[in-house]
Amino acid sequence: MNLSTEYLGLSLPHPLVAGASPLADDVDGVRRLEDAGAAAIVLRSLFEEQITREQLSEFDNLDRHGDSFAEAASYFPTPDAYALGPFEYLNHLRRAKEAARVPVIASLNGATPSGWLEYARLMEQAGADALELNLYRIATNPDTTGADIERQAIDTVREVKKAVSIPVAVKLSPFYSAFAHVARELDRAGADGLVLFNRFYQPDIDAEELTATRTLHLSDSSELLLRLHWMAILSGRVRASLAVTGGVHTALDVVKATMAGAHVTQTVSALLIHGPGHLRTLLGDLVAWLEQHEWDSLSRMRGNMNLSKVPDPDAYERANYMLMLRGWRA
Ligand SMILES: Cc1cc2nc3c(=O)[nH]c(=O)nc-3n(C[C@H](O)[C@H](O)[C@H](O)COP(=O)(O)O)c2cc1C
Repeated sequence: MNLSTEYLGLSLPHPLVAGASPLADDVDGVRRLEDAGAAAIVLRSLFEEQITREQLSEFDNLDRHGDSFAEAASYFPTPDAYALGPFEYLNHLRRAKEAARVPVIASLNGATPSGWLEYARLMEQAGADALELNLYRIATNPDTTGADIERQAIDTVREVKKAVSIPVAVKLSPFYSAFAHVARELDRAGADGLVLFNRFYQPDIDAEELTATRTLHLSDSSELLLRLHWMAILSGRVRASLAVTGGVHTALDVVKATMAGAHVTQTVSALLIHGPGHLRTLLGDLVAWLEQHEWDSLSRMRGNMNLSKVPDPDAYERANYMLMLRGWRA
């Protein structure tokens, strides 16, 4: 069975990638993921704030930014609360690369183009096979427009692409008013891959304690649907390779993501629930499903359910919406 795929210009034996998670925070974890069959491993993100705070603290000038900055800075975890600081991250990356035969993808998490992007170059020097740029931004300022946010994201990608020669993927949120346009502009800015989608922090309220609660819920397969939808819209319309992250728990999820157009699927929650060995189960189940359904390769099904041949996708989307609502029977 031919499961091979190309992602970010990397030739992979199959599309099952371990997404950014604590599972690869140490070298043993990296080895476990590789032994379980991960085709590539994404490390957890290094955050813009970790880097800028490290840079700022070198000059001992947090106070020079005045009270407002000091107050904002207090929201962030203390440096020792991060799993890995910037220098530890680069060291870990170097060791992970020495330990693993599969590609190791480093991740940078931020939103604005500035000096911290220098770390992209350091990650390349530390041996990363590719970078995943995790653009996380909640635009809370009413003066900030969608165009501002998009421009910053595109400029960030352009800056990173200028800084490194390894491939750069961009992990995105679905919350843009015209996601297809943003994706195409990122593609034009040189993104080698688009990773759909980031999961956003959704605070709950503890009504007794009057506090906002931060809980990280693991996903289930229902989260895949949003990804399938946008994957099917983008597939065949961008040059960048495409990855699904979010809701990939079973071999059937991998099949659906591939039919929508994904070159790889990233898995995290399922590995946290079942352990890294779940990758082996996924791979076995995937081969069994393909054999049972008489597919001889995964690449032949890639994108066969995308919308690239639909003459008027906007009308098609509206028609499906109407049919879904009209079709409801209690
Ligand atoms: C504990 C935990 C830590 C994560 N850390 C990161 C991270 O550092 N960077 C990142 O881009 N995504 C991170 N993610 C998000 C995952 O990479 C993935 O995109 C998300 O969990 C959706 O995939 P899933 O449904 O397979 O879990 C994290 C997820 C979890 C559960």
